[in-house]
Amino acid sequence: MATAKAHTNIALVKYWGKKDQQLIIPQTNSLSLTLDEFYTTTRVNFDPGLTADQVTINHKLLSPAAARRTSAFLELVRQRSGRQQFARVDSINHVPTAAGLASSASAFAALAGAASAAAGLSLDRRELSRLARRGSGSATRSIFGGLVEWHRGHDDSTSFAEPIMEKLDFGLEMLAIMINTKKKKVTSRQGMQASVTTSPYYASWREVVAADMQAMKDAINRRDIPAIGHIAEENALRMHALTLSADPGYTYFSSATLTAIQAVRALRENGVGCYFTMDAGPNVKVIYDRQDRDQVISGLTQTFDRDQLVVSPAGPGIQIWNENNNQSLL
Ligand code: DP6
Repeated sequence: MATAKAHTNIALVKYWGKKDQQLIIPQTNSLSLTLDEFYTTTRVNFDPGLTADQVTINHKLLSPAAARRTSAFLELVRQRSGRQQFARVDSINHVPTAAGLASSASAFAALAGAASAAAGLSLDRRELSRLARRGSGSATRSIFGGLVEWHRGHDDSTSFAEPIMEKLDFGLEMLAIMINTKKKKVTSRQGMQASVTTSPYYASWREVVAADMQAMKDAINRRDIPAIGHIAEENALRMHALTLSADPGYTYFSSATLTAIQAVRALRENGVGCYFTMDAGPNVKVIYDRQDRDQVISGLTQTFDRDQLVVSPAGPGIQIWNENNNQSLL
C-alpha cells in the first residue's frame, strides 16, 4: 500500500496536441507552474481478494465505465511490475474536477506515484514523469514543483518533464477565478485532437510555441513577471484560437470568461501588473507578483465575489509515502 500527493499545474506555455495518442507524445514542449492550493491525494492497495479494480474519488465508488481510464493506467503498472492483483484506489481531489483546473494532472501524477510504489517499483522522478504522462499529458509536469518544462521528446523514454526552478525565488503567483466548476462538454483530449486534425492554424501554433518557450525561459531567468505574464497571456489566446478555428469550431469560454478577461485588462490599464490564462474550461487564472496581490483582489472583487477567487503560490513536487509507518518512498 502506498499514498501519494501531487499538485496541479497550470501551463504558461500550453500543451495542445499529440503526435502519438497512444503514448501521449506531444507535438510541442510546454512549461507550467505547479500550484500549492490544488492537489490530489491517492492511496493504492493491490489486493488479491479483488476481482476488479475498485476506484473511489472523494469517497464515491466509480462505475466500471468511469474507472476505465484508471484501470488502463493500473494495467501499465501491472505489466511493468509483474503484479497480477487488482487494486483498490482511493483518491481525494482538492481540485474541482474537469473545470479546466487540470484535475487530471494532479490525479494521474498521484496515481503514478502511489500505484508504482504500491507495486514495488521504485521509480525516480523522471521515470515517474514518463509514467504519469501515460495517464494524462499535463500529469507529466505535476511530478515536479515550481516552474517545470515538459520536453516533448520523440518516444516513451525521451518525453518527460524537468524542473526549471523547483523553489521559486521570486514572487510569481496565481489566482484562479472560479467561474464554473461543472464538467466540460469537450474534453481536452477531444479538443486538442480536433485542433491538430482540423485547424488550419495548427502548423503556426507549433512555431508560436517554439518561440514562446524560448522567450518564457529568458523571462524566467530575468525573474521578469510582466514578461512572463504577457507571454503566457498571448500563448493562451493563441491556443484558444485553435479551438475556434477547428471544424466544427468550439470554445471553452463562457460569457463570464470574457468578463474576467476584461476585468484583468482594466486592472492592467490602471497600473496593476496582472495577466490571464485559461485552459480547457471557462475558469480564468490570473498571473501577478505576490506583492500586488491585495490590489489584484480588490480590483477583481468589483466584478466577482471574494469567494470565487482562490490565491495559490507555487507548489511542491510529488510526495509518496507508506501510511503504515509514515516512511517516505521517494
Ligand atoms: C489546456 O493533459 O488534460 O491544460 O493528455 O489528453 O490527458 P490529455 O490532456 P490534458 O491537456 C491539458 C491541456 C491544457 C494545457 C496544458 O496543461 O498544457
